[in-house]
Amino acid sequence: MICKKCCKKAIIEYPYPMCDQHFRDYYLRTIQKTIEKYNMFNKEDKILVAVSGGKDSSALVYALYELGYEFEGLYINLEIPNYSEHSENAVKELFKLIDYRINIIRVSDYNIRVSPIYKRPICSVCGAIKRYLMNRFAYENGFTVLATAHNLVDEAAFFLMNMNSGQIQYLIKQEPVLPKENKFVKKVKPLYFITERENMVYSVINKLPVYYGECPNSSGNPQSKWKQILYKIESENPGFIRNFINSMLKLKKYINYPEKKGEIFCCKYCGYPTGSRSRICSFCRLQKYFNNSKKA
Ligand code: AMP
Ligand code: FES
Ligand code: ZN
Ligand code: ZN
Repeated sequence: MICKKCCKKAIIEYPYPMCDQHFRDYYLRTIQKTIEKYNMFNKEDKILVAVSGGKDSSALVYALYELGYEFEGLYINLEIPNYSEHSENAVKELFKLIDYRINIIRVSDYNIRVSPIYKRPICSVCGAIKRYLMNRFAYENGFTVLATAHNLVDEAAFFLMNMNSGQIQYLIKQEPVLPKENKFVKKVKPLYFITERENMVYSVINKLPVYYGECPNSSGNPQSKWKQILYKIESENPGFIRNFINSMLKLKKYINYPEKKGEIFCCKYCGYPTGSRSRICSFCRLQKYFNNSKKA
């Protein structure tokens, strides 16, 4: 297979055969176009990039660096044995390579642990902790934008999962940009139109320090099953996942969301917004749970 643009050996086949140099151009151009189309940020913004040490967020960091953006990184050490120490090392190496600042926080600094509680699966507890800490760190440190590495396949799997459970209200979150609101910092997803495979290829051709190991809890992540289903369809219909997301975005325009969103309260412990009438956000609830279990 040869590159459509220069006849060198192609390293990727879809959306068209590309050599390493033409793939790099395509990859960076797609991200830059997404940033501009959705007004994600400009060079005046104070940008925080949430980085896990895996291929997607490491590729995002390096792509933004190559595109000339200034930003800082945030790594949350979740203290998951045989996992977090390796990802932290990869993140430190990556930021040494580009010579940008990386901020590192640990869940134990907040008296919290990533573990299943009551009937809540560990991945759901972990997700709630990450979302809360990313936002709080960004807000408290004056960042105007928080960038995550959610990719095309994450979005498609999230969509399928919510269609299956009937939780269509979550469609509102499936935007490349979630605007600033209250104490929620503006959130952006520059890799919204990039596949996992493209992030992998970009990481490999740039020899990025990435930790390729999986979180030991990932088998319990419900999104994995939906990703497998998507890949099966994609293998028989190349381009399906990208078309699926583009159709979802078109469909979303016809939905009338209720004028009044659920009421938002202020958490009586941390002061951050919560939808809970008890005025205790889910993070502070977890903190209370772990404090009580320590005393018991
Ligand atoms: P996930 O919930 O694992 O799908 O991650 C969603 C996004 O959160 C990723 O694309 C990263 O940008 C960010 N992220 C995941 N894990 C971490 C971490 N340990 N520290 C900082 N950011 C993270
Ligand atoms: Fe959160 Fe694995 S990264 S449970
Ligand atoms: Zn080429
Ligand atoms: Zn709280």
